[in-house]
Amino acid sequence: MIKIAPSLLSANFARLENEINLLQEAKADMLHLDVMDGHFVPNLTYGLPIIQKIKEISALPVDVHLMVSNPENYLDTLGKWNIDYVSIHQETVPHLHRQVSQLNKMKVKSGIALNPGTPVESIFPLIADIDFVLIMSVNPGFGGQTFLALVYDKILKLRAYAKKHNPTLEIEVDGGVNNVNSTKLIDSGVDILVAGSYIFQNSDYKEQIKSLRKKDV
Ligand code: DX5
Ligand code: ZN
Repeated sequence: MIKIAPSLLSANFARLENEINLLQEAKADMLHLDVMDGHFVPNLTYGLPIIQKIKEISALPVDVHLMVSNPENYLDTLGKWNIDYVSIHQETVPHLHRQVSQLNKMKVKSGIALNPGTPVESIFPLIADIDFVLIMSVNPGFGGQTFLALVYDKILKLRAYAKKHNPTLEIEVDGGVNNVNSTKLIDSGVDILVAGSYIFQNSDYKEQIKSLRKKDV
């Protein structure tokens, strides 16, 4: 069953609690939170205090996507708050295994995020140690960008490799996801679809979320 993770980047931040309640009512499966530092990516969003408050009020699992140059500075705190999923970009740290182990020790689902230009084979050595891979289908930093079809090949390769080396691995895709590409993504082996602008562009979030799952219904 596909999981839908709305990205709060496209939500109305002036009424965030209301937005989260609406997403819960609309049967979202988890909340996707994009942390940007203006350094690894050319944009800024929010940091730890806002994540803490969101976790306190959310009945849904919280998925933190760290688009920051020093993800290691965030991990202990996210673990202490029982954040459910955390992904770190492969491109940001030289000793990724260290951060993955740290997340695993804290029982946080550990993920590696890959920019469109990063080969999926680069995470194969760590595949048995992680819970999920976040495949970026846009260059990270902004909502509302155009989906890059190059990800289909990466998803197929990863799913095939994971079958043997980590059968429970979840594959998450993030960027430009909509009701046109969702079916092919699900068919390719994706478990979690992140969508920001597609869900929030229509005030009927329930309809938007349902339309992303159409393969399943
Ligand atoms: C982009 C973020 C995404 C973004 C997706 O860097 O990681 O989560 O919010 O937004 P859409 O779905 O509009 O591409
Ligand atoms: Zn994201």
